[in-house]
Amino acid sequence: MRKPIIAGNWKMNLLQREAVALVDGLKPLVAAVDTVDIVVCPTYTALSATGKALEGANIQMGAQNVYVKASGAYTGEISPDMLKDTGCEWAIIGHSERRHILGETDALLNEKLHFALANGLKVMFCIGELLEERQGGQMNDVLTTQVTEGLKGISAAQLDNVVLAYEPVWAIGTGEVATPEQAEEVHVFVRALVKDLFGAAAAEAMRIQYGGSVKAENAGELISKPNVDGFLVGGAALKADSFAGIINAAK
Ligand code: 13P
Repeated sequence: MRKPIIAGNWKMNLLQREAVALVDGLKPLVAAVDTVDIVVCPTYTALSATGKALEGANIQMGAQNVYVKASGAYTGEISPDMLKDTGCEWAIIGHSERRHILGETDALLNEKLHFALANGLKVMFCIGELLEERQGGQMNDVLTTQVTEGLKGISAAQLDNVVLAYEPVWAIGTGEVATPEQAEEVHVFVRALVKDLFGAAAAEAMRIQYGGSVKAENAGELISKPNVDGFLVGGAALKADSFAGIINAAK
């Protein structure tokens, strides 16, 4: 039985005091939840304040990105140790906005995954196709490449600290959520890829989140699918009541 994991990706939103107000509002709404892993992913500038506000709470914290070096002349980048220093246990790697806006490649994302895991972070590793790739019949090839290249050289044991997040790019921030059937179909496909690469036990244990226009209203139906193991939530994670609504729907 896989424990659902629901994470809020706050993207480039919220000043420190807004971030603290959000988690202060969220904590009482989810205090009784122990059957779901809950994670929030603030911007770098709000990590320390959010981390302090989360002390003792049943909510974990993650970063939205991480670099592949421990320290040094890498202007503007941030290391796993720096993230852990603020209270982060997780990092998101491979979000479509970093792939498509910032130009991050499968090879770089694989390097990030190796470095983050080697330095004690857990990772939500994102994959997902563009609308034209889905319509053009390339979806399975795109996902196969993202999974195969992204997870290259990772051991089955290391996979315990990896969650995959399927985020179809056409569903992100558009209000156009994948149907439960569409999500399930891809999650089954991705789990089969993990089985080919790492074996049946690793595939069975792998948690696969869905992301893209998740709301409290559609979360229950999506997570009722056997291969949907949680969510990576954008817009609806920016309000305590809507994020808690998703968590409670999943619970
Ligand atoms: P939305 O929930 O705003 O569609 O964003 C999804 C996402 O990109 C989470 O990482």
